[in-house]
Amino acid sequence: MKFLTFKEPARVLFVAAEAAPFVKVGGLASVMDSLPRALRDIGCDARVMIPKYLPIEGKYKLSTVLEDIQVPTGNTEGPSHFICNVKKFTPKAPSDPVTTYFLENQEYYEKRSNVYGYADDPIRWALLSRGIIEFLRINKEWHPDVIVACDWQAGLIVNYLKTEYRDDPTVNKIATIFSIHNLSYQGMFDHSFVQEMDRDDGHSPVPAFESERLNKINSMRRGIMYADIITTVSPTYAREILTPEYGQLLDGLLRERRNVLAGILNGIDYSIWNPQNDPYIMYPYSKDDIVLRSRNKAVLQERFGLENDKNAFVIGIASRLTRQKGFDLLMPIADIIMQELPVQIAIVGTGEADLMGFFRNLETKYPRRVAAHLSFDAILPHVIFAGADAALMPSQFEPCGLTQMEALRMGAVPIVRETGGLADTVKDYDPDKETGTGFTFEKFDSSSLMIALIRAVENFRNKKDWANIVRRGMLENFSWEESARKYIDVFARASELHSRELAKKKE
Ligand code: GLC
Repeated sequence: MKFLTFKEPARVLFVAAEAAPFVKVGGLASVMDSLPRALRDIGCDARVMIPKYLPIEGKYKLSTVLEDIQVPTGNTEGPSHFICNVKKFTPKAPSDPVTTYFLENQEYYEKRSNVYGYADDPIRWALLSRGIIEFLRINKEWHPDVIVACDWQAGLIVNYLKTEYRDDPTVNKIATIFSIHNLSYQGMFDHSFVQEMDRDDGHSPVPAFESERLNKINSMRRGIMYADIITTVSPTYAREILTPEYGQLLDGLLRERRNVLAGILNGIDYSIWNPQNDPYIMYPYSKDDIVLRSRNKAVLQERFGLENDKNAFVIGIASRLTRQKGFDLLMPIADIIMQELPVQIAIVGTGEADLMGFFRNLETKYPRRVAAHLSFDAILPHVIFAGADAALMPSQFEPCGLTQMEALRMGAVPIVRETGGLADTVKDYDPDKETGTGFTFEKFDSSSLMIALIRAVENFRNKKDWANIVRRGMLENFSWEESARKYIDVFARASELHSRELAKKKE
């Protein structure tokens, strides 16, 4: 297919629930920071829009773009409109994030200090979608050619644009991309428990904000159904989600739309992840002097209260502690590992109570060999990856995963399950060919993980070969540049498909 190119730099608006540095819960926020920057670097006018949560304005200087935007609620009993304002962050320095818009509403965002987890979330996300469309209808200072709606929280944007607003000339020329960062969250409910009869087929109009039915809408499905193009964050995940095993009950729909589905690997921000110049690590190093990592290992051990032992195989974990990440595989084998292998484990992250409890118990049972910081921390992952020998990510599924790339960049050797973005970024070590950047395993079970861990520990004993694995990993290139170019192609393709659809409608 020949791609349309934009006459002027493409104007692209990313919409998500979170975007670093303003607000960050998971990897999505990092991507919302670094991908638009990379696009800006290659001449695309990429901007971001998120809700304005409570802590943001105290930390960043924002200007007002529009006030008193009337957002229709569709309600028959409650208020017919909600009022929103839009504020804006404008970059001053090249290192600043791209222009970012914030949808402001007292009740639904301003009073909330968290991003997710409120009973009225369906209204909060419907308001985000509809509020942004109403903003774009009247905003004079900027207008996007393409919207990239990320994950279910932004799915209704695509739905509204293709239904309620399809004949509105102020917004109906905007092409839409729906970007899947994690297919397992689809709406307010756990989709795997919804009876077939109750499943949202995606065809009914979006219910009024006051309606109970809004809770049952599968916004992930609707994003996939209505978008001009669907993207996800790695080529392997794009293939996996076409299968029942990974498709989270949407594989049938995804197979129908596979010709407009693209998997583009995320990158990481090389200005944040650079061991030669990292404000959070004590001893800067590069691939040519990785012996310096041993000093950072001592710092890590000290900071986490682990025994100062240079021969210990230090495994770092920096992750959300959820089922997806596969740490429950450690549960049945943790004691054997701790008793049979010379390992230490340093953990940072927060998440599900039983996983946090598991790591807390392990720490109590093996003091000075296991240390867990069970809260979100933006700095400790740098300390961990600069000093740890390995980084563990045994994910059950992984749309992309950023930490394995960060670990590789810092010289911590990833031990990962071969799935999604992990399969695309970590190559299994082959001692005969002297290739590979990590240790991978295929089956999602504890014994496969165990075997990978034993292989890693065994090979760690051979310092020279290990140093080569570390160096090869550090040499990999996970910068955004190439992926950003692929996005530009996708924007052009979405615009082309969208204009064709508009033309057809006119006939
Ligand atoms: C989600 C996915 C993760 C991905 C990130 C950014 O958090 O679980 O795999 O790297 O989004 O796309």
